[in-house]
Amino acid sequence: MIQVIRKKNYDEISKAAADLIAAAILLNPEAKVGLATGSTPVGTYAELVKKYEAGDLDFSRVTTANLDEYRGLGGDHDQSYRYFMNTNLFDHVNIDKSRTFVPDGTEEDAEKACRDYDAILEKEIGSFDIQLLGIGGDGHIGFNEPADNFCVNTQCIRLEEQTIQDNARLFFNGNLDEVPTEAYTMGIGFIMRSRKILIMATGAGKKEIVEKAFLGPVTPWVPASILQLHPNVVLAGDEAAISDAVVEKYK
Ligand code: PGA
Repeated sequence: MIQVIRKKNYDEISKAAADLIAAAILLNPEAKVGLATGSTPVGTYAELVKKYEAGDLDFSRVTTANLDEYRGLGGDHDQSYRYFMNTNLFDHVNIDKSRTFVPDGTEEDAEKACRDYDAILEKEIGSFDIQLLGIGGDGHIGFNEPADNFCVNTQCIRLEEQTIQDNARLFFNGNLDEVPTEAYTMGIGFIMRSRKILIMATGAGKKEIVEKAFLGPVTPWVPASILQLHPNVVLAGDEAAISDAVVEKYK
């Protein structure tokens, strides 16, 4: 079941997405929340911080786990996803940072890093009340890139050239050589276990992949397409990213 929420622009959809996450926390103050990085959710996190500052939201009993982390980057590296989460959200709200989980990018043994993260997800999360996702230009969710099959558990992934270029464009001061080529990512199996999934897409650059993922066949070559099989998905985007055809299909 997919519900589409389309708003005029980035600011409006960020507010709507923050409202959905806030609702999950208000309903369950001990909510388990899955979080994402990238340029898309920055506005959503800013809106959540505003709600906290206004006294409308309490993170003190919330547990979070992030989708992914670059292999080789520690949390103090300003391009790591731990650093992103701290600076965009955790440093500004009353969350207990020991209850925020991100794969350990400094663990060099990839197999161990992945199994450790699966163990954390199993023990600390079980399943998310709500999972926030972005969508990659190639349809990836987390860093689960197009592949022969949907990966169930946390894996070490070699990033696609398009992803490396997208990330260099937006981050790493535009420097292609600095973007790590591998990442640890939560598997699609754990993402699909979430009770509710909020996938965001903003900007004209996402329009085509959103159509592929939500109007096309379910295939591991477009990893986000598997969300068509989940019982509770909200696709939230701006007018640039969500076409009329997508709105029509899920009316
Ligand atoms: P973006 O990345 O928000 O920076 O576009 C999305 C993603 O790769 O999941």
